[in-house]
Amino acid sequence: MSVTKIGIAMNGVTGRMGHRQHLLRSIMAIREQGGLDLGGGDSIWPEPILVGRNESKLRALAAETGLSRWTTSLTEALAEPDVRVYFDALVTNEREKTVREAIAAGKHVYCEKPTATDTATALELARLARDAGVKSGVVQDKLFLPGLRKLKRLVDGGFFGRILSVRGEFGYWVFEGDWQVANRPSWNYRAEDGGGITLDMFAHWQYVLAGIIAPVRTVQATVATHIPERNDERGRPYQCTADDAAYGVFELDGGAIAQINSSWAVRVYRDELVEFQVDGTEGSAIAGLRNCRVQHRATTPKPVWNPDVPATEDFRAQWQTVPDNDEFDNGFKVQWEAFLRHVVRDEPWPYDLLAGARGVQLAELGLRSARDGVRLEVPELTL
Ligand SMILES: NC(=O)c1ccc[n+]([C@@H]2O[C@H](COP(=O)([O-])OP(=O)(O)OC[C@H]3O[C@@H](n4cnc5c(N)ncnc54)[C@H](O)[C@@H]3O)[C@@H](O)[C@H]2O)c1
Repeated sequence: MSVTKIGIAMNGVTGRMGHRQHLLRSIMAIREQGGLDLGGGDSIWPEPILVGRNESKLRALAAETGLSRWTTSLTEALAEPDVRVYFDALVTNEREKTVREAIAAGKHVYCEKPTATDTATALELARLARDAGVKSGVVQDKLFLPGLRKLKRLVDGGFFGRILSVRGEFGYWVFEGDWQVANRPSWNYRAEDGGGITLDMFAHWQYVLAGIIAPVRTVQATVATHIPERNDERGRPYQCTADDAAYGVFELDGGAIAQINSSWAVRVYRDELVEFQVDGTEGSAIAGLRNCRVQHRATTPKPVWNPDVPATEDFRAQWQTVPDNDEFDNGFKVQWEAFLRHVVRDEPWPYDLLAGARGVQLAELGLRSARDGVRLEVPELTL
């Protein structure tokens, strides 16, 4: 019976993702449940050190969480003898520098996606981690969402027959920040700060498609900056230099075609903020963040195109809900637990920095495809 205490330097915990999903919903939640149970009476106890630029925000966060350790110096945090893991949820542009420092200090690294703003840098970070003999990880939270886990279960169970196509719809309206406060940070709309929806979302679609349907073999994208000017956190107008919508077509290994629209300039008429429809010869499914519905070939209606008569069928009602049949914990926490097991027990872990680089690669190729008006192959990445 043993408790393995593991110090984690957590950088970017004052930000949206770092604060809520990683600190509160993952690391604090693991502590609240008494640690990560490894079975046989063994467990892992995470000991976070909060790292950031703003002393007063860190002090407030420490008070909110009851944590006693925080610092504005990453170097100091990495020098703490019990720190074995560096976690990074900084704005994307800042990641390279900090991850390099952590790897040089011999720490295992876990970070948000995209791991870098270009493929060469993302690969370089993966190589550095390998050469230093440290473990690495990238957040691929969508794979752990209940809706997508149910979709994966359907794929694994052979529900679809031959998968023909995937239609993904992601997005919502992000206010411009003039008459209503924006619901995303302004750096997202500035290319020079690592913003842009292609970089942000194609990094997700790469692992969602590869992990659930099949790896992406080609990409063709059109991107747009629909809203050219926004107002920042202080109400000052700024020019949007990054794309706020990306319309991608992806050919998958095995021949299925995926089309995914990603937009911060779209209003939601969907059940969830992201939804994927998968059509196969034997059946179809619609999966979102939480829910998944199916229609089997045997229950597929036979609509006849006739614009002269009103729709006689309630198409939405013809789908069945896939039951949970499982308990789904917060996806970020589930992935954190797997990473901690990987660090302490060397359990299998496919979500390393090379996997992160594949996401960056798809985003980079998507942007290049849009710029040059061409369809591009996605070469296999290796270290
Ligand atoms: N996995 C997901 O679903 C998901 C969702 C949103 C964002 N993200 C990723 O998480 C990261 C953070 O995004 P966010 O939405 O939380 O952003 P945010 O702006 O809310 O937070 C960014 C954090 O970085 C810090 N920061 C900003 N500029 C800095 C600088 N120059 N030097 C040092 N620190 C700096 C901020 O203080 C803050 O702690 C991004 O890489 C983003 O792509 C992932």
